[in-house]
Amino acid sequence: MKTTLSVIKADVGSVAGHYKPHEEMLRLARRRLSEAKETGIINSGYVQSVGDDILLIMTHSKGENSPDIHGLAWSIFNEVTEKVAKPLKLYAAGQDLLSNAFSGTVKGLGPGVAELEFEERKSDPVVVFAADKTEPGAWNLPLYRIFASPDNTAGLVIDPILHKGFVFQVLDLHENKMVDLKMPDELYMLLALIGTPGRYVINRIWRVHDGEPAAATSTTRLSLIAGKYVGKDDPVMIVRAQAGFPAIGEILSAFTPPIIVNGWMRGSHRGPLMPVSFKEGHNVVSYFDGPPRVIAMGWQISNGRLIGVDGEEPADLFADPFWDYTRMKCAELAIYLRSMGEFEPARLGEEEMEYTTLPSILESLKDRFKKI
Ligand code: 13P
Ligand code: 13P
Ligand code: MG
Ligand code: MG
Repeated sequence: MKTTLSVIKADVGSVAGHYKPHEEMLRLARRRLSEAKETGIINSGYVQSVGDDILLIMTHSKGENSPDIHGLAWSIFNEVTEKVAKPLKLYAAGQDLLSNAFSGTVKGLGPGVAELEFEERKSDPVVVFAADKTEPGAWNLPLYRIFASPDNTAGLVIDPILHKGFVFQVLDLHENKMVDLKMPDELYMLLALIGTPGRYVINRIWRVHDGEPAAATSTTRLSLIAGKYVGKDDPVMIVRAQAGFPAIGEILSAFTPPIIVNGWMRGSHRGPLMPVSFKEGHNVVSYFDGPPRVIAMGWQISNGRLIGVDGEEPADLFADPFWDYTRMKCAELAIYLRSMGEFEPARLGEEEMEYTTLPSILESLKDRFKKI
């Protein structure tokens, strides 16, 4: 029987600006997931936060895009908004719930979703990544390193299954189109697209050997749905590991040289993606509402359930002091980029700003522009 891993996330309000959710929000979400476990909707469920976003991580046997699972997540995010975030006047309560027209899927309504359905192998390790203060294109560079760069992933050279390559599905978020590209044969075409992460986003990856799904990401861009800036689209990603997939250590090593991503303050800047532990005190944004950060949660998927280091508690894969090296580099880059103030490339380019505040500034100046 197949197992589905669903990761659904939303920012429905936070304490001290865009800092972190209130504990009561997380407690309520945990109660609802444990009830859903008792009634058999899900097999297991785990609630975590990254920055100001709440993550619901669930396993079940209902397949991808299940109205039951999406409905559960939708009702939890709405209840947390109405019962906790709004009464406590938390910041941006209900931020990512852009519509109240739920009709079987949360896609297009604001929350981010990454899902993978697969037949469990003899042993099935997975990593779930979640980032705050950035956008789905943030996964482009690490996914390229993990599944297409032999300089990062030794297995692409050494393991006969990995050696056959991977297919990348890339979405064009501006035109609502997608294309499948086969690695390594079409590597240069892939790079031509995904080097523009605000527009081209890797959506799914599967291996050439047998078509087994390897990775899935969330691809929502709130501003493209809402037509204005409403917060960044803080993305999530699932990656399967080991035995014919990249090893956990290969997957994590893709985050070692700092990755500069779009997002950060007001969703309008470029900043380094800092790998952090999800333990109290690490998983919060402070410097200029950042820098953007990523957590990595490791589980075994066993008989349809999440098995972590203690019950459903996942391995905290960026807790290793090794990552202090990358964190320090990220801090240096963050301070350096800030020294440029509101100049590109520290501030996003015009085409990205189009979806934020630039149109209203241009509108207010339109009568003052004179022909040269
Ligand atoms: P596997 O093929 O078992 O994933 O071996 C690779 C490995 O364990 C390196 O971490
Ligand atoms: P979030 O997208 O995490 O809510 O952040 C919004 C923002 O404007 C930060 O400065
Ligand atoms: Mg927020
Ligand atoms: Mg956020």
